[in-house]
Amino acid sequence: MNRTESFEGEVLRVVRGTRSGVPIAVAIHSTERGPAIGGCRIKPYPSWRDGVDDALRLSAAMTMKCALAGLPYGGGKTVAVLPAEGARRRDLIADIAEAISALGGRYRTGPDIGSTSEDMAEIHRLAHGWAFCRPEAQGGSGTSSAATARGVLAALRAGVAPGSVAGSRVGVIGFGSVGRLVCESLLAQGADVVVTDVDGELRPVAEQLGASWTTADLVRERLDVLVPAATGGLLTAESAAACGASLIVGPANNQLVADEVATVLRDRGITWIPDVIASAGGIIHAVGREELGWDEAAANAKVDAIADTTSAVLSRARERGSTTVRAARELAARLTGTG
Ligand code: PHE
Repeated sequence: MNRTESFEGEVLRVVRGTRSGVPIAVAIHSTERGPAIGGCRIKPYPSWRDGVDDALRLSAAMTMKCALAGLPYGGGKTVAVLPAEGARRRDLIADIAEAISALGGRYRTGPDIGSTSEDMAEIHRLAHGWAFCRPEAQGGSGTSSAATARGVLAALRAGVAPGSVAGSRVGVIGFGSVGRLVCESLLAQGADVVVTDVDGELRPVAEQLGASWTTADLVRERLDVLVPAATGGLLTAESAAACGASLIVGPANNQLVADEVATVLRDRGITWIPDVIASAGGIIHAVGREELGWDEAAANAKVDAIADTTSAVLSRARERGSTTVRAARELAARLTGTG
């Protein structure tokens, strides 16, 4: 390497939980627009350093996500690197709450891969209320899945020709809580949906909805729309070069392994809707309901406005011949006052 990589964030705190022994990283990328927010990811990684890297990358994405969604917040993320033998849930959650508490409110968490609304209730109780999406019965806005799916559908609408969802062929990678809701809605709109998930046990559930199941790599399949709804890193230079979709839009975070992949997609005429835009529904709904005083209708309207942000980025990219990543970054920079 011929240059030193600069640290773009504000805080990176890595602790080994005193109760669970689990490495926990909390990254605050920016508090320029307001407190940093971002989900709490609990999963195994090849090494704890990979977990730290993921926290850094995801926290930067959250800054952009909040800016593009027009929210008065910055970006952060928590990653707990789950050991192969697992950890006692209570201990782990208490350790995560302690790590968040130590940041004094500059960061607030929410559910993410591996964490639930119930976990958020516990963190909320232990960490001064700095957790979104507790169950509704406990005063929170509940799981963010429905709002996230709603946002994906808004972005998708903006990316396809009006009225063309019916009869289109859509591939969904990842049949988790959000992927499933997106499938349901697309099927109801008359799309032909094919699903894949690493968990083969979900097959009958998908088929019962009316989707077809495949174990093939959907990235390479000929599709009108590809919906990445699993973990990130799906699009590499190689997979982008082999991609058979016309439009890519989904809730997975960090879908591109690097910004350059966006160039490959653009050159091949594939429209990629930046994940920081398409996946923002959950967070818009949660902070709107819990902290910004919006009622359900107002929160839904803001989630639907993801369609406008998508259109703005797609036209900016088209007009300038740039990638959608670049267009989104420029728009975000204008909103954060850094550009
Ligand atoms: N997983 C959510 C995201 O990445 C995290 C989140 C949801 C944080 C809701 C706060 C509130 O956007």
